[in-house]
Amino acid sequence: MEKAYDIVVFGDTCVDLILHDEDIAPQFGQVEKTVAGYSLEMGGSCCIFAAQAAKLGLKARLLGKVGDDAFGQMIIDALDDAGVDTEAVFVEPGLKTGATVHLVQADDRAMLTYPGSLAALTLDDIADEILASARHLHYGSLFLQTGLLPHWVEILKRAKRLGCTVSLDTNWDPHGVWDGGFISALDYVDALLPNEQEALHLSGQVDLAAAAAFLQARVAILVVKQGAAGASIWHQGESRRESVVSAPSGGDGIGAGDSFDAGFLAGWLNGLPLETCLEIACRCGRAVAGRAGGLRGQLWKSQVPELEAY
Ligand SMILES: Nc1ncnc2c1ncn2[C@@H]1O[C@H](COP(=O)(O)OP(=O)(O)OP(=O)(O)O)[C@@H](O)[C@H]1O
Ligand SMILES: [Mg+2]
Repeated sequence: MEKAYDIVVFGDTCVDLILHDEDIAPQFGQVEKTVAGYSLEMGGSCCIFAAQAAKLGLKARLLGKVGDDAFGQMIIDALDDAGVDTEAVFVEPGLKTGATVHLVQADDRAMLTYPGSLAALTLDDIADEILASARHLHYGSLFLQTGLLPHWVEILKRAKRLGCTVSLDTNWDPHGVWDGGFISALDYVDALLPNEQEALHLSGQVDLAAAAAFLQARVAILVVKQGAAGASIWHQGESRRESVVSAPSGGDGIGAGDSFDAGFLAGWLNGLPLETCLEIACRCGRAVAGRAGGLRGQLWKSQVPELEAY
């Protein structure tokens, strides 16, 4: 049966207030410092992912909640502008939209997050209709979406039963536990998309070769993101490394991995060869890595010749 959407994602809705300076460290004792600049953007790994997926021509749907506040409206507007279907983004009175303050200096940053709406989805929100409406479920921000975390393996299982393929980008575990039933969930994952450090933590291995061996035995497609060193893929016992030219300076590292994921899946859901999917992914990641915030550098379908035919 034809599905209405290519991809559905659960939104870790939040905004990013990004402050940057050569010396961004705050000074307590009521000391006021000025900073070189700031930007205010839609944040949230899954929201940035959905925006990139839609810009690349996928029919993307985001399920999420926002507060009845200016930041919530900003997120809905940013998703709309990218072409994401926001019909299932609900404004919930009494809820505060999540917000992260990023303090950026040189190639490092510190983050302070108020989760609010970011973690507000619960099992009751994941109706069968939502899962069945799309060809693919991309599950992200596993450890931050705490309202779903106790049930996420069950949700992936349901998604598979309802005819979805599934990708997973856990992102970082701020509590350092790295479990949540991860290994058992891999039975329901078609493509696993961690960065290198995450791959080590998730597999419990000490180097990338061992982590890749452990993970590729359990998942059909493993893609590991390696920042300015590019990315690697493992599939059916074969591996391939894609290197990248360093992104121009001026970026802050926010959202490169999420746009990479969307680039990879845009290729994969259009049936392109895996090496082409990896190339598109790296281009999308690099484009975002060179700009401030997670949205500005994102590529549109017209900028990715391999996707133009679809
Ligand atoms: N400085 C850079 N220069 C060129 N390409 C980059 C750079 N940083 C990231 N990329 C591209 O983007 C991809 C994803 O970036 P990264 O490895 O930082 O993901 P991540 O750690 O998951 O990021 P995120 O913080 O968004 O979760 C890389 O595999 C690479 O292709
Ligand atoms: Mg990431």
